[in-house]
Amino acid sequence: MLSSAISRLNFLPKPSIAILSHEGFKHCEQRLWNLNCSLLYSRSCVASTPRVSSSCAPTRASKDDLVVLGIETSCDDTAVAVVRSNGEILSQVISSQSELLARYGGVAPKMAEEAHSLVIDQVVEEALDKANLTANNLSAVAVTIGPGLSLCLRVGVRKARKLAGAFNLPIIGVHHMEAHALVARIIEHDLHFPFLALLISGGHNLLVLARDLGHYIQLGTTIDDAIGEAYDKTAKWLALDLRKSGGPALEELAKEGNAQAVKFSTPMKQHKDCNFSYAGLKTQVRLAIESRNINPEIPISAASIQERSSRADIAASFQRIAVLHLEERCERAIDWARKIDPSIKHLVVSGGVASNKYVRSRLYTVVEKNDLKLVCPPPNLCTDNGVMVAWTGIEHFRMGRFDPPPPADEPEDFVYDLRPRWPLGEEYAEGRSEARSRRTARIHPSLTSIIQGSLRQQ
Ligand code: KG4
Ligand code: ZN
Repeated sequence: MLSSAISRLNFLPKPSIAILSHEGFKHCEQRLWNLNCSLLYSRSCVASTPRVSSSCAPTRASKDDLVVLGIETSCDDTAVAVVRSNGEILSQVISSQSELLARYGGVAPKMAEEAHSLVIDQVVEEALDKANLTANNLSAVAVTIGPGLSLCLRVGVRKARKLAGAFNLPIIGVHHMEAHALVARIIEHDLHFPFLALLISGGHNLLVLARDLGHYIQLGTTIDDAIGEAYDKTAKWLALDLRKSGGPALEELAKEGNAQAVKFSTPMKQHKDCNFSYAGLKTQVRLAIESRNINPEIPISAASIQERSSRADIAASFQRIAVLHLEERCERAIDWARKIDPSIKHLVVSGGVASNKYVRSRLYTVVEKNDLKLVCPPPNLCTDNGVMVAWTGIEHFRMGRFDPPPPADEPEDFVYDLRPRWPLGEEYAEGRSEARSRRTARIHPSLTSIIQGSLRQQ
């Protein structure tokens, strides 16, 4: 049994310590790329011939005994963790911007950037201290380079490159959504590729078939909002206490309500695909709130018993339909995934919304019916965290996919390779529907196309 020391800076209470069991990572890729490996990562390397040469290889690590520090700053949490390649979590520190979120009712990029900048040094230092290590003991630094808010990503990437430059460490650029999926492999030893993953967070709603490390087929995505955004807005309109973010507050209130009280319609019934839409459900919720004369100026703590019960009914009814939409899409995605890869055995559900107990229990029923196994990381590994970044760094590092150490004297105005809009996989051609987002501008080539393209060049 291995333990993870978890701590949060700022105002949040300390969560309980998660105990993760691990008997060793069984699905270890043995092949280490030495030459001509695709580099996803820094601009300096992308600009030159993409390769990982043996001169870039770390001197302090063998690929089976790595200690990687992961930095996550893509949205509103400054999260850092130190993870060993056997899956042991040596430390995990999160500085949350929950007070800012509660005050402004959402993430304001400029303020989030400032908050990250204020705490990043301290969070990294604390993560190293808790792991009883110095940066000298690290094998590499992993950092989220997208998707996310550019201003916020930049803070993490700058810190990662400073640290890597100062201690001559290789650096691994990580895809935030891949990290949400792969963190499940720390806790489920039998989670081999291929597997199906439902990734549900504040900004993303993805159904992907993970065929291999770096090879994802996107079966579905949201054509407008993600489920987490719908939870957050509904919580805000119901004047819930947003200090722990909207999702958990809404989940809590929904327990008191009647989920059949308000008749919301399930999104995209007519579209027989695996895409999602939550904008229409948000509108239905807003109209229901208006028609019941709920005053968002009155916080839930000050609401009358009757008013509280009315809000709880809306919360429960919203949650039922929001999750039913997930269930329906997962059912179809299982069929599609089996057509492509009949050997799938697992459905991974991860991302902030996957920490919701109702979501977990409903999806558990879906996988049971379909003879699959549900893998849901513990809640503190579902919401944004540094462990998933460090772990994804380890997985790619083992395959030889990393950047050489940046120069120790990298100029302050260095232009980082950030990927705010960065798909994880290639769209499943047979699953395309006419109901798709028109927003395709400034999208980076997908992680899968970059890696698979470079593999073909080998
Ligand atoms: O993955 P995450 O931490 O950050 C992003 O990548 O967006 O997900 C954050 C989202 C927020 O919308 C938050 O309200 C939601 O996850 N969330 C929840 C719960 N815990 C977090 N939604 C529903 N129920 C929860 N218990
Ligand atoms: Zn996330």
